[in-house]
Amino acid sequence: RDSRQAADRLMGWYDAHARDLPWRVPPGAAARPDPYRVWLSEVMLQQTTVAAVREYFHRFTRIWPDVHALAAAEDPDVMAAWAGLGYYARARNLLACARVVSRDLDGTFPDTEDGLRALPGIGPYTAAAIAAIAFDRPAVVVDGNVERVMARLFAIRTPLPAAKPAIRDAAAALTPERRPGDHAQAVMDLGATICTAKSPSCLLCPLKPDCAGHAAGIAATLPAKAPK
Ligand code: ADE
Repeated sequence: RDSRQAADRLMGWYDAHARDLPWRVPPGAAARPDPYRVWLSEVMLQQTTVAAVREYFHRFTRIWPDVHALAAAEDPDVMAAWAGLGYYARARNLLACARVVSRDLDGTFPDTEDGLRALPGIGPYTAAAIAAIAFDRPAVVVDGNVERVMARLFAIRTPLPAAKPAIRDAAAALTPERRPGDHAQAVMDLGATICTAKSPSCLLCPLKPDCAGHAAGIAATLPAKAPK
């Protein structure tokens, strides 16, 4: 299958339609985004929507503009700033991680998935997202949105969670060597704005010509859920 063509089309769409998010740099920019901001946004986004995270992201980066500043913060101040985001273990891990990076790593975030995963609060998904977005590593980034896009694009009919290995393989096949960080964010944006859970906007989708789910008329039914 020609994943190259689909990935190229997706990148063209992203270049024109990328969401303007505070932790991003514009698509294709020569500058890399600040790993501190990418890490902070990904931890906030773990169980929280982009809409809710924006305000908190601005607050945190205003008060603590870099990892050394956050590492030096008092615990209660960080917990208070986090109030409302929920899942408070994330805030505790956030501080623990900032302190490790600040004290032990001179303020430099690791640039590999393995290195990132060794830090508090960074699991496989978050490590892949940071490696791709901050360091342009060809990491395979799979969250719920990405699962939905892959299940549809490749017409993977196996129900979740059994489909996870096939979905990961599909996501890996689609990941390009060039601009893998923008690619990961393009899949996220497509899943959030076009290939949505409730009603995919196939007429607006840049991947319509490549989408096996659309061709089979089953895009909206995927990913399948196992019967209870
Ligand atoms: N969801 C999780 N990470 C994201 C990101 N970097 N951009 C948009 N949505 C996301």
